[in-house]
Amino acid sequence: MTSVHSSNSDETVAAGRALAERLAPGDVVALQGDLGAGKTHFVRGLVEGWEGAERATSPTFALVHEYDTRRGPVYHLDLYRAGSAEEIWSAAHDELHAPHGLVVMEWADRFPELIPPGAVRVDIVHTGDGGRLITVNP
Ligand SMILES: Nc1ncnc2c1ncn2[C@@H]1O[C@H](COP(=O)(O)OP(=O)(O)OP(=O)(O)O)[C@@H](O)[C@H]1O
Ligand SMILES: [Mg+2]
Repeated sequence: MTSVHSSNSDETVAAGRALAERLAPGDVVALQGDLGAGKTHFVRGLVEGWEGAERATSPTFALVHEYDTRRGPVYHLDLYRAGSAEEIWSAAHDELHAPHGLVVMEWADRFPELIPPGAVRVDIVHTGDGGRLITVNP
């Protein structure tokens, strides 16, 4: 487990970039954190770390958005509005089983049954000073 304090959104992006170095195709990142914690900024760092050109934003309408990167596709899921695990399975079945891609799920804790045992868990919490504490497991 590693924890890092992030004082602004650039540092949250940088934390995502740092984790990206340790990830390989087939990995799953389960992101949890309150509304506005910085999950999407962290995803932006992951995509940057894998040398994707597109800037990660909130996938407002789609449940899943694909970013092409030099190291393979990054599948970004935002489960905030998802109704059920079945809905997610049917909307993103191929992405959730893609051995060549990186799967990143915001609000993963809403659907624990979707988190595989080997997933990397990232928790982002607000700290009293206006920053964030980012914890990565393992
Ligand atoms: N370490 C930080 N300190 C202060 N503000 C931060 C930090 N990291 C990110 N932010 C800010 O938090 C806000 C929310 O960021 P972001 O959209 O990435 O959060 P989110 O967790 O994805 O939100 P949502 O729950 O809506 O999906 C942004 O304004 C961002 O600039
Ligand atoms: Mg978000």
